[in-house]
Amino acid sequence: MLKFDFTTYVNNFINDNDYNSLIAKKEEVLDKFNHSNMIGWTKEISEELKNDLKDTANYIRNNYDCLVVIGIGGSFLGSYAFDKMFRKYFNDSKFEIIYAGTTLSSKYLDELLEYLNDKNFCLNVISKSGSTMETNITYKVLKDLLKRKYPEDLNKRIIVTTDKDKGPLREEVNEKGYKSFEIPDDIGGRYSFITPAHLLPLSINYDLDEIVKGYYKGKRLIDEAYQYAVVRHCLFKQGKYVENYCVYEENMSYFTEWLKQLFGETEGKNGLGIYPTSTVHTRDLHSLGQFIQDGNKIIFETFIKVENSSNYVEYNGRELNEINNLVLDSVMRAHFSGKVPCLEIKLDKLNIINITSLMYFFMLSAAFSGYLFGIEPFDQPGVEIYKKEVRESLK
Ligand code: PA5
Repeated sequence: MLKFDFTTYVNNFINDNDYNSLIAKKEEVLDKFNHSNMIGWTKEISEELKNDLKDTANYIRNNYDCLVVIGIGGSFLGSYAFDKMFRKYFNDSKFEIIYAGTTLSSKYLDELLEYLNDKNFCLNVISKSGSTMETNITYKVLKDLLKRKYPEDLNKRIIVTTDKDKGPLREEVNEKGYKSFEIPDDIGGRYSFITPAHLLPLSINYDLDEIVKGYYKGKRLIDEAYQYAVVRHCLFKQGKYVENYCVYEENMSYFTEWLKQLFGETEGKNGLGIYPTSTVHTRDLHSLGQFIQDGNKIIFETFIKVENSSNYVEYNGRELNEINNLVLDSVMRAHFSGKVPCLEIKLDKLNIINITSLMYFFMLSAAFSGYLFGIEPFDQPGVEIYKKEVRESLK
């Protein structure tokens, strides 16, 4: 179950006129949203696709020791963030998945090649455009290793997730006959959690039906998502240009990376937007905590609180998660007293249903926020500029 508090540690910072006029725009914003041709992520996925994903996940689990997922940005962050949250910190026994493709570090790739030498592995290369440099370089290097190790069944070891009809990866699939999945035209990278880009790697270790069920439960949160967008926008109007996402579980740190991409790429256009950043507590209270409490007053925060833990550690007759949450409550009060507005989202438990509902909530809210800023929420022209520059200099 999810609960939202966008008032207790916020109110003094919001201008009532701003708030009321933005709330009054709700129908207009929803209308723009519903008429967008990039909201394929709100549509139900088919049983046929779910079965294909489950069969392919079984095939990978039954035939290999390890899957290497190659992708970057929206083609990796959703499943990576999810996977990180639900693995054990130590002695994790889930099927091994390595996420590569996010770096051009020679050290990383060289050491990955050495590691994979002794592994019976397969690849899932994920790119909607099929032309992303980091993905392509990693794919080429790892495919060369596969060719050397397994010349006889190379084609079975490559699974491609890309555009339905176009791009270099689709052309390669058509030529070689690799198993492939589609990223639909009406879904952009950061909104693609409900596509095979994320669902295939996740189906290997998690219950796909539960992921899908939780995700669509997020549809009920439309009012809360709109209110979150409005409150953030009001804070922006008061000079709060930075939103800090605070988590109290180290394994949620990549969830905040996913949030940063979602909001950063959606809102950061035309000189507008709220800059998303994150801290993991209590660790960062001993570093960035100083700036947040006492520094430049451009920050507001969104705390993600997990009310109950499934692990039990006792300290002086109290449960450690209770202490962790007591710290969270105290930090909100302290930061609020330092003129930092604090919003709160509570999960009764860290489980698949809550997290996938929350992802849908954030996607809705990011899109609504784009419309409140008067910008197109579903493109990312800024990212394309750097990609073009790199292509030019590599010629
Ligand atoms: O959100 C986006 O569109 C980007 O972050 C892309 O997902 C990222 O650049 C990777 O693109 P592609 O899937 O085309 O390789």
